[in-house]
Amino acid sequence: MPKSKFIVEGLAGAKTLRGSIAVGGAKNAVLKALAASVLFDDEMPLERVPDIEDVKRMRELLESLKTDPTVLRRDIAERMRASVVLTGPVLARRGSVTFPFPGGCVLGERPIDLFLDGYKAMGATVEERGDLFTISGKLKGAHITFPFVSVTATETLMMAATLADGETTLENAAMEPEIPDLAYYLNECGANIKGAGSSVITITGGKPLRANGIAYVTPPDRIEAGSFVILAALVGDGVTVTNCEPAHMQALLTLLRRAGVNIEEGKDFVRVTKGGAYKSVAVRTHEYPGFPTDLQAPMAVFLSQAQGEATILETIFDGRFRYVDDLIRMGADITVMNPHRILIRGPRILTDKRLESPDLRAGLAYILAAAVAEGTSTIENAYTIDRGYEKIELRLQKLGLNIKREEV
Ligand code: UD1
Repeated sequence: MPKSKFIVEGLAGAKTLRGSIAVGGAKNAVLKALAASVLFDDEMPLERVPDIEDVKRMRELLESLKTDPTVLRRDIAERMRASVVLTGPVLARRGSVTFPFPGGCVLGERPIDLFLDGYKAMGATVEERGDLFTISGKLKGAHITFPFVSVTATETLMMAATLADGETTLENAAMEPEIPDLAYYLNECGANIKGAGSSVITITGGKPLRANGIAYVTPPDRIEAGSFVILAALVGDGVTVTNCEPAHMQALLTLLRRAGVNIEEGKDFVRVTKGGAYKSVAVRTHEYPGFPTDLQAPMAVFLSQAQGEATILETIFDGRFRYVDDLIRMGADITVMNPHRILIRGPRILTDKRLESPDLRAGLAYILAAAVAEGTSTIENAYTIDRGYEKIELRLQKLGLNIKREEV
């Protein structure tokens, strides 16, 4: 695959982007739905699938399971955290799964103990050789209380439990909207899942699922939508973010309104009209319905342009401030207080730099920073952004941003 980079001509603080931008299907929803296809006896149709690199990797993993039905290919699994979600359906359906420690964005420690403990509680045995795990056994229903909230562990064990013997209860489950969305679809196809979207989920195991032609329709990506709203606040002169679900973005919209952003919301759109000076707000990431950690970096860019001193407290991950050094190089005034807290003083003028994003969400934040900055910035390693955002440059060009992709 050719490597490419993005070149962004900054607007030097001018607010000129106009028009509307449609949000694509959610990466963090469709990847789990693709993994769920292993639970099915028939073909599972999917709609609104975003054309992003992680979806291609997940399809490759599923394809490779046709030749080696219980082994997740190392080269792919090591590139994507979401590969771990496949372990549940494969184990539940085929009685065994072998996989390497999953990769993906480096956000500090991302262990898999909750998955392994869950499988053990359901009667499976876990064998560990180096960084390779083999889990085997017929799964039985169990009562599992997560010691803390994990999105992927909740989804994975929920899927595995649909084919286990008897009833499984997941307590302290994640409540992200992608979870009830998936459960609703699985139930349409014969699963028996209750409580998804709350902190206690009960699953009664049964036979493999059947889609009978019913398609899984990927919900809009609330992180992409949120990032576009932040972009609109920073450099917009009337931008409507369409095809989104404002109901799932309330923590962000509340904070932005408090900061002085003019926001109008409808059932499936958010419109940001040109605003004056913004003031800083305190951000604390939290599991849904709190402020999403995946919007932490874009929000930091916003706060670099807001008047006053703001703090961001990151409560989910340990290593999620790796982007901060680059924003400082661009001119942002940010102090890292400790691995969980930063202090941002604004507003500061940002200037163009050569950037390389440490993770996929920060990648989009770099595009935001480059858009608001003076001069022309380069964002290397477009793959990191392509993993989760479909043809981002073409979509932003339509709003009037001067961004292009260059092969390197
Ligand atoms: C998912 C999302 C990611 C988002 C994150 C938090 C996907 C593919 N990714 O990641 O975009 O940033 O939720 O909203 O959906 N943990 C353990 N042991 C485990 C599992 C998790 O200690 O077995 C820890 C993690 O290191 C982290 C915390 O739990 O500190 C929450 O992580 P989790 O919700 O699992 O994030 P992911 O599901 O990996």
